[in-house]
Amino acid sequence: MATVLDSVRALFAPNTFTIDAETPADVVARETLLDRAMGADRRRKSSEKIRRGRVPAEGLALVARDGAGHVIGTVRLWNVEAGISPDGQPLDALLLGPLAVDGAHEGKGIGGALMRAAIAEAHSRGHGAILLVGDAAYYERFGFFADKARHLVMPGPFERSRFLALELKAGWLEGAAGMIVASGRKLA
Ligand SMILES: CC(C)(COP(=O)(O)OP(=O)(O)OC[C@H]1O[C@@H](n2cnc3c(N)ncnc32)[C@H](O)[C@@H]1OP(=O)(O)O)[C@@H](O)C(=O)NCCC(=O)NCCS
Repeated sequence: MATVLDSVRALFAPNTFTIDAETPADVVARETLLDRAMGADRRRKSSEKIRRGRVPAEGLALVARDGAGHVIGTVRLWNVEAGISPDGQPLDALLLGPLAVDGAHEGKGIGGALMRAAIAEAHSRGHGAILLVGDAAYYERFGFFADKARHLVMPGPFERSRFLALELKAGWLEGAAGMIVASGRKLA
């Protein structure tokens, strides 16, 4: 019943939302949103192994809020090493995910707004590239392609065609090869 009421409210609510930095007060609402949008299986993904026990990259945990301030979308990015560069050095990059929007608010451009805000913030903070595992049909519109990640692997099962990358600095992933490893700050 609560779900039906939520849908009816969403239908008549003004179509406004804002993109904001995630705060500790958003944690419960965000977890509930992710459970609804992605199911319990979300914790078994290879990306989750990289995120577990770490904090998101500085300034790169964003939420979308409705007019009343409720969390209706989320995206986070994580510091990783994307294999080794051609000169043998670990290559810094970001791993994006999860991205999710409340089912009652899908198709209003919230996912796109979260993606564009996250990419712009990562760029302004000087990051070189963003990787993710997701549907190419959705992420290609933001510039993510499998080609850029072709010599990189996730630490667990993943579909090659869904492993995508966007370079924020031209040529950043050129010649990068190896496994994605978490490099972010550990949770206290
Ligand atoms: C994917 C998701 C984040 C999109 O959020 P959203 O706010 O509805 O996205 P937008 O409004 O910005 O964009 C909607 C467009 O994306 C398209 N789209 C949504 N999911 C898609 C997918 N998996 N593959 C291809 N296109 C997709 C819609 O058809 C729509 O297309 P249109 O603009 O031509 O009508 C949201 O549907 C969601 O949370 N899904 C469940 C969680 C999930 O699967 N996340 C990972 C995505 S791989």
